[in-house]
Amino acid sequence: MRYAIRPMRMKDVPQANEIDRECFPTQGPPPSYRWELLLGRLSHYLVAWEAERPAEAPPMVGQGASPQRVSRFNQFLERATHFLSAGEASPSNQRIVGLIGLWIMGEEAHLTTIGVREAYRRQGIAELLLISAIDLAVMRNARVVTLEVRASNFAAQALYEKYGFTKVGTRRGYYTDNREDAVIMSTDITTSASFQSHLQQLKEAHAQRRGPSHRQING
Ligand SMILES: CC(C)(COP(=O)(O)OP(=O)(O)OC[C@H]1O[C@@H](n2cnc3c(N)ncnc32)[C@H](O)[C@@H]1OP(=O)(O)O)[C@@H](O)C(=O)NCCC(=O)NCCS
Repeated sequence: MRYAIRPMRMKDVPQANEIDRECFPTQGPPPSYRWELLLGRLSHYLVAWEAERPAEAPPMVGQGASPQRVSRFNQFLERATHFLSAGEASPSNQRIVGLIGLWIMGEEAHLTTIGVREAYRRQGIAELLLISAIDLAVMRNARVVTLEVRASNFAAQALYEKYGFTKVGTRRGYYTDNREDAVIMSTDITTSASFQSHLQQLKEAHAQRRGPSHRQING
């Protein structure tokens, strides 16, 4: 697969805003990715990117960096550095094609957003993002992943169902643009043997169908 996953950086914010506008044209302004990256201790964003020049292959191979414990202070410094370089564009060889957002609060991870540029859909990019976000949630000790999805958004619901999410409730008139209902979906316990074995099968099937991918999920 010619796409790779890594944490979102400040330099990606203009492209993230573009993707947000394309994926959610009827919703209000996009989340303030810049502030979330700097101060949002609970929020985590990953991006899928395409190397426009094949020579610039992603530097990291395999299933992501080892889970190192980085101190809060170091994380803050890193975020502050990104913030100060906020005016720079993404490296010219990195086109961001999709993104996913998670809030991790205690034992629950909440998927806040997922979007793939229209021209890049149906190539398994959302799957790659979702696999990475679930792995990140598990790594951070979340026992379930939950989300809300528009009742009419059958494509997204099919994606979530494929990954073991089930419908657990409804929020009436949740979306402010058209008062559409939200379907609440949740995974089983993410560390359970059945969930992990299903996820493993899906990872293998994805790699077989789309080719091996490069994933870095830790910042
Ligand atoms: C939903 C979305 C993220 C899917 O992205 P994608 O990269 O095209 O999805 P993938 O190629 O990884 O597809 C994975 C699975 O999702 C489901 N799926 C994706 N698009 C679908 C469609 N148009 N119709 C039906 N199922 C679809 C399928 O189950 C698919 O698995 P399959 O290939 O085995 O059939 C993308 O359509 C999007 O960005 N939509 C706008 C934003 C949005 O609605 N986000 C969800 C908010 S809750």
